[in-house]
Order: sequence, then structure tokens, then C-alpha cells
Amino acid sequence: MDEARIPIGEGTRVLVLTGAGISAESGLATFRGGGGLWEGYPVEQVASPEGFAADPELVWRFYSMRRRAAAEAEPNAAHRALATLEEGLGDRLLLVTQNVDGLHARAGSRRVVEVHGTLWRTRCSRCLRPPFDDATEPLGPPLPRCTCGALLRPDIVWFGEMLDPAATGRVEGFLRAARRSGAPLVFVAVGTSGNVYPAAGYVHAARAHGAETWLVNLDPALNATSFDHIVTGPAGEVLPRLLGLDG
Ligand code: OAD
Repeated sequence: MDEARIPIGEGTRVLVLTGAGISAESGLATFRGGGGLWEGYPVEQVASPEGFAADPELVWRFYSMRRRAAAEAEPNAAHRALATLEEGLGDRLLLVTQNVDGLHARAGSRRVVEVHGTLWRTRCSRCLRPPFDDATEPLGPPLPRCTCGALLRPDIVWFGEMLDPAATGRVEGFLRAARRSGAPLVFVAVGTSGNVYPAAGYVHAARAHGAETWLVNLDPALNATSFDHIVTGPAGEVLPRLLGLDG
């Protein structure tokens, strides 16, 4: 347990990584642990290209349910604290999220990299038509189809799929620029279990670039030993305090 403030001074660069835990206090289920989102939905069925090919209707029903839950949720104090931090830091902050719920943007964050895609875009399962904004909740049949005839699918990165190199490139570019600047670098991970790579490896990348590393999580994350500071507790309470934004 570490109760100091995260040291963010003149010139400090901050890379933030968030996971499902930051949206838990907004009422959205996390992936792992009791009441987890995958309950009743085996991961391979709803979050893989093979699952989509086998039962696209089940997959659309699952993501339509997630669109509905995310639309009804509101950003919480942790999302808002990160948006406020960005107001002060501008380009010296980059927020990388594994979440697809869009709550960071709704809280006012602008420098957000959604490495696992977003619920709020749809793309073709076959052709290269660019992904497009979409908040519909298809329950099918009939399921939505592209002009090329193939089924449309959520623009989410599923298991076995590659992350968008432009997204991961932004994170690497931020770390390189931070190192070149010679300014202090802080890495803060919030609400993520450290199970899924490459996001779980960003703490190592940040350390390699000289970062001081902080973890804010409810339970011990799998990669917790890689952090300099671990603060246990709900992000909506802990994060504003650690950032000195709790009034
Ligand atoms: P997980 O569900 O694996 O982990 C959520 C973490 O948040 C857990 O370690 C909890 O202890 C913690 N937590 C829960 N409530 C919290 C709270 N109020 N405050 C702080 N921490 C809290 O979620 P992720 O690590 O985001 O990928 O999962 C990573 C990826 O696995 C997801 O993006 C998803 C999934 O497969 C894809 O869909 C591609």
C-alpha cells in the first residue's frame, strides 16, 4: 500500500493504461472475477473470428448488449480525473485504454488510444471498407451486411487478431519522445489485471524508458511485481486522491 501522490511536476510526461476496472464503478462488468462479463459466454464464442463465423447472431447479441450497457453508463470520478489531468498536461499525457466502452471520451479525454477497438464502430468482416460509427443494436436475423455482401462486425480486436499498428505505434512513439526529452516519465496502470498482452507489457516498456511506475487496482494484478508503487482500492476514490484532484 502506497499512499503518496503520483509525482507530476513541470515537464513530467504521463502514460496511463486503463482496463475494465476503471469502468466498474460506472456499473460495467469486468472480464475476470465474480460477475465477470464472460459468464455464460465462453470467450472463444463471442470474441474470436472463429466464434463469429460459427454463430454471428450470438456475437451480435452479445455486443448489442454491451453497447446498451455502455450507453446507459456514465463516466465516474476516475475517468473524470484523467480528463482533468489531460487538461493540464496536454501532449505530455497519453491515455491507452483496453476498454471499448467510450467512457474516457465521454469524460472529456481527447488523447486516447483504444488498443482493443471500440463498441461504437462497425466494420466489414471481409472487405477493406473503413470502419464507420455505429450505435445500432442488431439482434438479428437479418444481421447487418456490408455493401460487398459480407456480414458486418463490431470493430473490436478479438482473440487471435492483431492490434492496429497505428495504435501501438502511438504508444511507442510517446515513450521514445519522453525519453528523448529527458523529462521525468510516469506510468500509471488503472483497473487492469495484467493478463492480456501487449498491454500487460507496457509497464516493462515504460520502465525501460526510465518511468516511475504506479498501479491502482482492486486486486493484485498478475504483473504487480513489475510496479514501483501499488495502491489497492477502487479507482474512483483512489485515483483523484493520488493525482491531487480530490478537492
Ligand atoms: P480484467 O477484468 O481482466 O481486470 C479488471 C481488473 O480491474 C481486476 O484486476 C480488478 O481487480 C480490477 N478492478 C475491479 N474493479 C475495480 C475498481 N473499482 N477500481 C480499480 N480496479 C478495479 O480487465 P482487463 O485487464 O481490462 O480484451 O482485461 C484485459 C482484456 O481482457 C480486455 O480488454 C478484453 C479481455 O479479453 C479484449 O476484448 C480484446
